Amino acid sequence: MTKIIVLIGCGNIGSRTLQSLVSVDAGSLGGLQIWCMDPSAEALDLARTRAGEIIGAGSVDGLDLRFVSDVSELPRTIDLAVVSTTSSVRHAAVTALMDHARIDRLVLEKFLFTDRQHYADLSARLNATGTRAWVNCPRPAWPGYMKLAARLRGTGPLSIRVAGAGWALASNAIHFLAAFEAITEERFDRFDGSGLDKDPIENRRQGYREVTGTLAASGDGGSSASLVCFKEGRAAVTVDILGAAGRFIIFEAQSRMLEQSEETGWDWKEVPFGMLYASQMAPVFQDLLTAGDCALPDYTSMFAPHLGLISIYNRVFFGPGQEDRLCPVT
Ligand SMILES: NC(=O)c1ccc[n+]([C@@H]2O[C@H](COP(=O)([O-])OP(=O)(O)OC[C@H]3O[C@@H](n4cnc5c(N)ncnc54)[C@H](O)[C@@H]3O)[C@@H](O)[C@H]2O)c1
Repeated sequence: MTKIIVLIGCGNIGSRTLQSLVSVDAGSLGGLQIWCMDPSAEALDLARTRAGEIIGAGSVDGLDLRFVSDVSELPRTIDLAVVSTTSSVRHAAVTALMDHARIDRLVLEKFLFTDRQHYADLSARLNATGTRAWVNCPRPAWPGYMKLAARLRGTGPLSIRVAGAGWALASNAIHFLAAFEAITEERFDRFDGSGLDKDPIENRRQGYREVTGTLAASGDGGSSASLVCFKEGRAAVTVDILGAAGRFIIFEAQSRMLEQSEETGWDWKEVPFGMLYASQMAPVFQDLLTAGDCALPDYTSMFAPHLGLISIYNRVFFGPGQEDRLCPVT
């Protein structure tokens, strides 16, 4: 029977996600109907154009693509919903969709919500409706991190450092935490923000803010991580992982890794490191629609790290004692 997918928010990342959704093998699913919803006509145009880059101008067997500007136009039963708005409107967007339709599986963009209250609200709602939810932190699904996870699991605690300039630490730290959790099978939800710079900066998305400096994170199995964002310069982000099994320095943007391990005879060796763009996530969505599960972190596992980060960021943005304010991170 035809599977129904709804994409809420068709801006930069939503339109790239649509490229993944239209790459799902519609034939093997008995047909695929994809509904794109965004109140902005410009965003819907972008989505149309980007879908066209993948599927061409003609029709694709089994794929039915529709574009609407209001929730009321969407189907009442949805196999998979993806919510790609920015964080401040995400809770309202999810709630409006859940008021309108029965959703089986839900994928939410990070940073999840700006309001701490919304985390528990959504948990209660998911429990009540039986909807299963994941967060779109894709590194656990990248072939490079998947292979590392298989090799490093059970080899003891890791020491990890992510460092580079201008990589929007506040917004993106959660991506790396999801990767660390996948590799170590530890929960990273204890943070130390004392190394963060005192002055926040603006995020390139209007109305949102960013931090620079060093954020420390501890895993519950003894692993530790520091995430460093230099205020100045152009240093590309590197991920440096050190443990009993070896040392692995990942240059994500180059899809390369430097490795020194038993496998390399403890010599340095450069090897490929598989990453996936937002437009290359079709296997994850295919897994969700067929197996009902995927490599993305589930909502429950991302709940505590988001709340911990909100406290840390709000202390930088607003000062001590202000941890419960709306957190302007997306
Ligand atoms: N997972 C990743 O790898 C990744 C990468 C980049 C960005 N992001 C995150 O994705 C989110 C979106 O970023 P973006 O750059 O695409 O933003 P964007 O502003 O380009 O797109 C957001 C879209 O949401 C639409 N929108 C707003 N309210 C809506 C509503 N109620 N219903 C439906 N649509 C609505 C807007 O019209 C806009 O088109 C951010 O939180 C960002 O941090 C994630």
